[in-house]
Amino acid sequence: MPRIAFITGANRGLGRATALALARNGLRIVVASRGDASDVVHQIVDAGGDAIAIRLDVANLTSIEAARVAALASIAQKWNATTIDVLVNNAGVGLFAPLGDISAEHFDTTFAVNVRGPLFVTQAFLPHLSEEACIVNVSSSLSRHVSPATSVYAASKKALEALTRSLALELGPRGIRVNSIAPGPTATDFNGGAMRDSDAMREALSGQTALGRVGEADEIADAILALVSPGLRWATGERLEVSGGALL
Ligand SMILES: NC(=O)c1ccc[n+]([C@@H]2O[C@H](COP(=O)([O-])OP(=O)(O)OC[C@H]3O[C@@H](n4cnc5c(N)ncnc54)[C@H](OP(=O)(O)O)[C@@H]3O)[C@@H](O)[C@H]2O)c1
Repeated sequence: MPRIAFITGANRGLGRATALALARNGLRIVVASRGDASDVVHQIVDAGGDAIAIRLDVANLTSIEAARVAALASIAQKWNATTIDVLVNNAGVGLFAPLGDISAEHFDTTFAVNVRGPLFVTQAFLPHLSEEACIVNVSSSLSRHVSPATSVYAASKKALEALTRSLALELGPRGIRVNSIAPGPTATDFNGGAMRDSDAMREALSGQTALGRVGEADEIADAILALVSPGLRWATGERLEVSGGALL
């Protein structure tokens, strides 16, 4: 039976690219997003894959519970399945400000989406993860190197990596692998689309990478595919940086 992947923030950017990549490789996809993501489902189905859409705001515990109920009902009805095999905690926000401009709201929103969200989404689906399921938490290369005005975001991603390692240990006895992926600058809507749309930003960031450019969404998606593939079945608690060699 094809594996089922549940991907948060799958309506655009890295989440969408991951949904498409995993679908191309035979996984059934639960596209979880705050807004309508029927276009992603159509794109997958048009390409010969299989997907359903679920509404989910990862910062809201009521929404997480509703998404759990809706996802389980849908996968039972559509695929006669009861478990999720791959969980990609991708949804995230990048709010950047120097110390003097950081508000409590900036901090709370960042941690609610980037840390609390993945934790409680994982908790919600824990009883419904198959044996040998894979969880991938989307971190950032900014958890390793520093950049101006990114303190809260970097701290949230470092916290996510700490969760990843703890949960890898905790869930190991069930055969569940938990890893994080740390993309470098990638051309999406992130940070106002700067890595995609600003020549000055692209040039500056490209100069910091060994491969001399910023990343594309499908390059991160393919790395997530690799993490949930049998070739990496012995890897858990790991952080895989995919950044073209940023600031080595
Ligand atoms: N692009 C980069 O350079 C880069 C580098 C390192 C790490 N990352 C990480 O990669 C992940 C995806 O980023 P991206 O580049 O694809 O950025 P993006 O294009 O801005 O997409 C962000 C995604 O997160 C979703 N999201 C935000 N808050 C949410 C919430 N409360 N509940 C559910 N979904 C929520 C957004 O949904 P809406 O459409 O509803 O807003 C959107 O789907 C993030 O975790 C980000 O931190 C990105």
